[in-house]
Amino acid sequence: MEPLAAHHRHWQGTSFAAVPNINIAGLPGKLGMSSTREIGLFAIVDLVGHFGHRGVYDLLVQCGDSSRCAVVGVMTVPMSDRSGEPVSWTAQFGQFADDQALAYDRVLVPAVFASLAQRLAAVAVDSSVHSVLDVGTGSGVVARAIAARLQPGAQIVGVDLSPRFVELASEHIPPQGVSMRFQIADAVALPLADAGFDLVVCQHVLQFVPGLSGAIAEMVRVTAPGGHLWVVVWSELADSPLFAAVADLVERTWGSDAHEVFTTPWSLPVERIAAEMTGAGVKAVIVQRLTVDVEFDSAQEAMWVLVLSPVGRRVLGMGQRERETFAHDFAESIAPWTTTQARVRAPMTAWVVSGHRG
Ligand SMILES: C[S@@+](CC[C@H](N)C(=O)[O-])C[C@H]1O[C@@H](n2cnc3c(N)ncnc32)[C@H](O)[C@@H]1O
Repeated sequence: MEPLAAHHRHWQGTSFAAVPNINIAGLPGKLGMSSTREIGLFAIVDLVGHFGHRGVYDLLVQCGDSSRCAVVGVMTVPMSDRSGEPVSWTAQFGQFADDQALAYDRVLVPAVFASLAQRLAAVAVDSSVHSVLDVGTGSGVVARAIAARLQPGAQIVGVDLSPRFVELASEHIPPQGVSMRFQIADAVALPLADAGFDLVVCQHVLQFVPGLSGAIAEMVRVTAPGGHLWVVVWSELADSPLFAAVADLVERTWGSDAHEVFTTPWSLPVERIAAEMTGAGVKAVIVQRLTVDVEFDSAQEAMWVLVLSPVGRRVLGMGQRERETFAHDFAESIAPWTTTQARVRAPMTAWVVSGHRG
């Protein structure tokens, strides 16, 4: 425990110990614990294999009480490349300042995620559902859409890696009689009992989780026998023309590395998800396509898509002139989806994969 305490520093108002290049397998030993079971809330993302070539990595150990160093969460997160830029959406979500998290919740969620959340809730919830887990809940839009359909006495738990999102989700008031609880956790190491939920949902998260099979195995483990699992991810970028145009602009402006990071949400083949679910024992796996409209009040509002992405710092770092030119290029790029009322509306397609635990 001592060496960790010696490296304390602050990040997002929380005390962390930083240990670069740690070997995950040796983690409990380094924390002075005999096994991962002793870590109350255990969250690990091993992104090193994924982003190892990109630069700086930290192990962040969140300590509740530095004298006893009670560990409540452990994350390895690729924080940034050498210029300080976040190297993934997950790192970006984890680094959101308060105003960015609010912009995500107030602008991106209603524009991009809410209608899909409603559609998912409509197909996934029936009167037999009493306990629900929302994996990678973000600011809780899916959890809330589902909660609105649950009977009194039902409970829903939402987990997410980002402490800021967990806080935001917790601020929403649940429908009367339904219990909603949010906590920090990693999809690949859920701190939840086996078979505890009769519905497990996960919308637009698995694209960001390096251990896809681990995350799916965890979702299956916590699903009760006969319970249902629903996974949603965006389909190919070509099916989301507005975002494809924005991605083209990212590539023209900052090159292929920036494009690769920006387009992660559209990069997970649905066949992999279906195969992993089947392999993990999910029965009657069905894949469906679902198209919704995304809608922003203006091109300026749609720019949040970029500003809140891992390339956001490049936009924010521009001088006024440069930013005006860029905003003009952005508006031109998305002109085909800009209505005569200056709103921005475009179709966006997702894959919905479902099945039940045998
Ligand atoms: C695009 S948001 C989607 C949030 C929400 N499900 C929705 O539909 O609005 C992706 C979320 O996944 C979370 N996330 C990424 N990797 C994760 C992991 N390994 N475990 C838990 N959450 C993760 C991020 O913090 C973020 O909140």
